[in-house]
Amino acid sequence: MAERQHKLQAIMISVPFQGHINPFVNLALKLASKGCAITFVHLQHIHQKLSKAHNSDDLFSEARGSGLDIRYTTISDGLPLEFDRDLHAEEYWVHLFREFPAIVDDFVGTAIEADPYLVPFLVADTVYAWPAAVAEKYKLVNVSLWTEPALVFSLVYHEHLLKERGHIPCKDDQVQEINYVPGVESISTNDLMSYLSETDDILLETLSAAFKGVKKADFILHNIVHELESKTLSALNKYQLNYAIGPINFYKNLAANTISKSLVSESECAPWLASKPPGSVLYVSFGSIAQTSKHVIEEIAYGLLLSEVKFIWVVRAGIVSFDDDTNVLPEGFEDMIKDKGLIIPWCNQITVLSDPAVGGFLTHCGWNSTIESMWCGVPMICYPITYDQPTNRKLVVDNWKIGISLCDGKSVNRKEVAENIKSCMSGTCSKSLRQEAKKVKDILQNALEVDGSSDRNFDQFFNDLKAKIN
Ligand code: UDX
Repeated sequence: MAERQHKLQAIMISVPFQGHINPFVNLALKLASKGCAITFVHLQHIHQKLSKAHNSDDLFSEARGSGLDIRYTTISDGLPLEFDRDLHAEEYWVHLFREFPAIVDDFVGTAIEADPYLVPFLVADTVYAWPAAVAEKYKLVNVSLWTEPALVFSLVYHEHLLKERGHIPCKDDQVQEINYVPGVESISTNDLMSYLSETDDILLETLSAAFKGVKKADFILHNIVHELESKTLSALNKYQLNYAIGPINFYKNLAANTISKSLVSESECAPWLASKPPGSVLYVSFGSIAQTSKHVIEEIAYGLLLSEVKFIWVVRAGIVSFDDDTNVLPEGFEDMIKDKGLIIPWCNQITVLSDPAVGGFLTHCGWNSTIESMWCGVPMICYPITYDQPTNRKLVVDNWKIGISLCDGKSVNRKEVAENIKSCMSGTCSKSLRQEAKKVKDILQNALEVDGSSDRNFDQFFNDLKAKIN
């Protein structure tokens, strides 16, 4: 009998949010396609949602069918399954920060002993605060996956500089230009991430702790292409090994379509889109977590009607408040729109954005949504709500010129919403947005071709990883 060969084993523990799960699953598939064994861990409540949405208990069974070595497992986050993590989001985040590390530590200790032929390394989300300590304790190579743009990474990485100059906390009434962060030409305090504006923001506290750890990571992977953030990435490379390997959600030949990532059942949009002319439909969605007010929803609803543009709108449960999910749309709205619009609770966003009928995206600028729109060459109307979204907006509108800001970033009103929608979908502004969006789409798509920048960076990372482990 042939002797069993040693094999690399990536231990991957995803952050329990849709915007992090998607790139994480795709990265797992990519590493598996390179011959790694993957131990992929979901938290139990995420597994429960996935199983319900997809009627399946084993998320990677089809990938294994195509020969990939993926061992899927679940762990508890230490809270009862009944605990409403959406309703108590902040409390939950604090729990993940303070209590979850001990659970992960135990899990990793057991996982690395399970199979003596596997040579383990850790792949963890940059926003977790535990990876550096766990990697150090078990002597594992530590790979950190950053799922947002390099600009956001760099600003948190250089938090000490922003604090020294009094830009954290940043005060709304004093708009200033920041031009001292290495690799960041200039950014207005208005465009900083929301969590930099408070003195004692828990998210900033946890990210600060996470970034202390990330400074000890062996490799940092970014979900962007080098060409689009080259200065920022080059500046970061002076400190540590950074690899731009995106857009991760579009890796090819990965059986990716067979993997259940969506936490909610998806409504079918293709039949409705089939009868619509190319570029005529606006897609509207604010991602999986962000919340807005009923007033904003109402102004957007009437703005859509006034614009007379056809639309698909994801009105997610919880978009306004987790207590009162129902009736967020104006009364009778669904009757008013007739065949002009399709309102759904969730969809396969990439499929919708890839449809030739879709010509614009009104988005909250979550990073996955942004990069998915860029991949499809779809111009954006940006309505950033929180976290990194204001900073992502800056990249889309000011740097890459592939989007416009909803109501110029001021309070949302239906008349301007309608005007913005019309400018994005037709006329001179639309033409210029589309031209730029096409250029960015080509950059992204070329990056994943054989010998494209992300393809090369991934190979470089993988070779460096193997060299470090052996
Ligand atoms: C979160 C943060 O809010 C965001 O700021 C950060 O950049 C990433 O983490 P989220 O708000 O959910 O993410 O937004 P986004 O990053 O856009 O991720 C949403 C994901 O859900 C996308 O991959 C999108 O394709 C998917 N989606 C969304 C669907 O599949 N169907 C939908 O109906 C809506």
